[in-house]
Amino acid sequence: MPYTIGLPSAASAFLSAGFATQFSVAVVICLVIVLITASLPPEGGDEAPKSLPGLPFLSIVPFFRQRYDFLNWGFRITGQSTFQFQLMNNTVIAVSGASARRAFFYAKGFDLTEGFKFLSGAIPMVRGVTSGIQTKRISTIHKRLAAVQKNASLSELIPAILEDSRRILESYGTSGIFDPFDKIYELMFQTTVRSLSASEISDDAALVARLKTLYDRLDTGTTPATVLLPWFPTPAMIKKIWATKEIYDIVVRAIDAREQSGVSRNDTLQMLVDAGDERLVVVGFIMGLLIAGARATGTTASWIITFLGGHADWRHKAKTEVESLLATYSDATMSSFSARLAEIPLEIWESQTPVLDAIIRETLRVAQPHTAMRRNLGPEVYINDKSIPSGAYVVYPFSDVHLDPEIYPDPWRFDPSRKEVEPTADLPLPYVGWGVGKTTCLGTRLAKIELKLTVALFLLGFDHVLVSGDGNTPTAPPKPNWNDILQCRPPHGACSVKYTRTAFAL
Ligand code: HEM
Ligand SMILES: *[C@@H]1O[C@H](CO)[C@@H](O)[C@H](O)[C@H]1NC(C)=O
Ligand SMILES: *[C@@H]1O[C@H](CO)[C@@H](O)[C@H](O)[C@H]1NC(C)=O
Ligand SMILES: *[C@@H]1O[C@H](CO)[C@@H](O)[C@H](O)[C@H]1NC(C)=O
Repeated sequence: MPYTIGLPSAASAFLSAGFATQFSVAVVICLVIVLITASLPPEGGDEAPKSLPGLPFLSIVPFFRQRYDFLNWGFRITGQSTFQFQLMNNTVIAVSGASARRAFFYAKGFDLTEGFKFLSGAIPMVRGVTSGIQTKRISTIHKRLAAVQKNASLSELIPAILEDSRRILESYGTSGIFDPFDKIYELMFQTTVRSLSASEISDDAALVARLKTLYDRLDTGTTPATVLLPWFPTPAMIKKIWATKEIYDIVVRAIDAREQSGVSRNDTLQMLVDAGDERLVVVGFIMGLLIAGARATGTTASWIITFLGGHADWRHKAKTEVESLLATYSDATMSSFSARLAEIPLEIWESQTPVLDAIIRETLRVAQPHTAMRRNLGPEVYINDKSIPSGAYVVYPFSDVHLDPEIYPDPWRFDPSRKEVEPTADLPLPYVGWGVGKTTCLGTRLAKIELKLTVALFLLGFDHVLVSGDGNTPTAPPKPNWNDILQCRPPHGACSVKYTRTAFAL
């Protein structure tokens, strides 16, 4: 069995932390499903959600490969706002609509961590980690994440994030063309590693690049075989296990180096070491949150740069906003944009950037292809008058609300000037970009400051527009592809960013 390679504790730390967020689906996506092709879905009474027609085998692979299309198809073909399908011997219920949304996000018994375990049900290495211990570890990790985002620590990260961004943007040269889903993604990976780990790692560009390759391998090594035969040690599966082990080794090496050197540094690892947490928590923090943080911020930043490249008016507004902050809070005689941006206090970044806020908010609405997942650990509940039995898994696609033309007219259009939709009794939770109810994003402050700093420096340092594959300027930015659950990425090469450096030093 693949898990006997010798990293059960590494893997359990990795997985238990990773489970904490929806984005970790990426990690386990392919280790995941066992299909029961023989047994047909259970038939219930009126109260049971309608099942999908056809063999479960035919409908479930798309849940992992073409999720947006698959869920839409399910709602359409059943003609219901709630339907069910089988994964192994488990029932998965997809829900949609306003009242379902409220019920889903507030249901007492719905559990996010357990919701992920189902996606990884075939990974034996989590077995034996009792849920009690896991919950305790996760809550320690969450507490440490809160500490990283206290005003003092977050303020200290500002110059470090800017310096990383400066170094990487400098390497772009004076002009050229890049794919934001590679380059901007890479940039956010660096700033996230900076924010969540150790200087031994984040100062070493080659090591960060290696780490990124390893995380990408976890995300993209999905083959039909790994989906259908997760217990079978295919080459793709072994590569994933190996990548996990190598990430673990990198993190542990950094911890060891720190502990042995006795030298204290000002970074997140030091905070974790000083807190005296067990090693599994430290490793879990870095490994798990890195994947959660880097994916989401990378995707969002890539899309922001893409949208601003196609909407000169919003690009101009954002840049003007940043320039006016510079004029107010920084010393104009300073030699570089990054040094000047570092002078702007955290409170100002958080309260005086209405344009950047609107851009981030709209980008998350239209290009964050999230499907929330839970397991009902409580008693049976009803959603849309359908029974959600105890033990069932429940999924809610964010597209249900964020791409609903009744709530957001012309939903695919990027338009940060949309008024925030006010929740009403009939329309609860009209926006869920950072989570709502029982589960909200615990990295929001860090994510927003990272996004604002990197986008600000990019806008000041470069002029940019989009170019399509044929070298022409497209009439509109590409349409986000919600079937790509990682990046919402449009077809490769369909659209790139063409840039030239502005005169002033980065
Ligand atoms: C643009 C960036 C990000 C976006 C859009 C985002 C969005 C979200 C959303 C929507 C959820 C709720 C998921 C659900 O209900 O199923 C969530 C949860 C979470 N996020 Fe983020 N996130 C981002 C960045 C980050 C970063 C940088 C971190 C960590 C440093 C982080 C840590 C978490 C954690 C730990 C949870 C789980 C909370 C819990 O278990 O209660 N996120 N995020
Ligand atoms: C599903 O199958 C596993 C073994 O494959 C078994 O341990 C588990 O109890 C089953 N669950 C249900 C709900 O029948
Ligand atoms: C280290 O962090 C503390 C607060 O956390 C700060 O006061 C101090 O200036 C920092 N030292 C350096 C060298 O950055
Ligand atoms: C931290 O900063 C926020 C604004 O960025 C401010 O509202 C809050 O009062 C600050 N908290 C403390 C304890 O200074």
